[in-house]
Amino acid sequence: MSDILAQAQTAATYIRSKTTLQPQLAIILGSGLGSFAAQVADAVTIPYAEIPNFPQSTVAGHSGKLVLGTIGGVSVAVMQGRVHAYEGYTMAQVTFPTRVLGLLGVKKLIVTNAAGGINTRYGQGAIVALSDHINLSGTNAALGPNIDALGPRFFDMSAAYSPALRKLAIHEAAKQGWTLNEGVYLAVLGPSYETPAEIRAFRTLGADLVGMSTVHEVIIARHMSIEVLGLSVVTNMAAGVLDQPINHEEVMEIGKRIEGQFTALLTALVPQI
Ligand code: ADE
Repeated sequence: MSDILAQAQTAATYIRSKTTLQPQLAIILGSGLGSFAAQVADAVTIPYAEIPNFPQSTVAGHSGKLVLGTIGGVSVAVMQGRVHAYEGYTMAQVTFPTRVLGLLGVKKLIVTNAAGGINTRYGQGAIVALSDHINLSGTNAALGPNIDALGPRFFDMSAAYSPALRKLAIHEAAKQGWTLNEGVYLAVLGPSYETPAEIRAFRTLGADLVGMSTVHEVIIARHMSIEVLGLSVVTNMAAGVLDQPINHEEVMEIGKRIEGQFTALLTALVPQI
């Protein structure tokens, strides 16, 4: 058996020892979005530090807890914080929690992030449903010997972001009185933000948003045939879009500002998914 699979099974077994709940849906909360975890009823909270083999985030705004419980009667696993490749983690570590969620029986994943806005139609604080991604991070999460027990060597990415889940999200936002735009997320490695020339190049390539996460988790989720909804919060406009520098504090602040809207959307969506 592959080491990664054995380690993921150990982690899943540990989590199962803490709750009888079997999550159907998982939510990964990005930078500044962790407060959504408070919506989980009958919550069992497990710090990542307690879970065997689970990687720990070193970034401000990523608290590092797995919260299991229900939202609107649906069994969920909510990840408050994630690790990134720019922290020095390998692809196996970055996607380890996603594999564990799959082993726990999760069939659907809502993956969220803080992103830079490339498309000038978006304003700061906009929530965008991902329609697709461009992986320019320089690596691929499924690299290495294939774990046949989890999925095939080669797998389709032509509808990586479920059109059906996206439609539900767009419909729910409209019901709540606002427009959920769709966009293409381009992943870079980071941790430096991009240069204005890079952002111009990415716009030409068809990107609407830029960020340093998400695509790896989505690749591994699709490897395991998990259906994905991706949501970005535009915490800042990308370099050169506005005549001002980008800072991480701003990324955190915007998360707080849109907390109500983000929470209302997700809370209403979960029971429909
Ligand atoms: N996260 C938030 N803003 C970002 C940006 N401009 N580039 C990459 N990741 C980001």
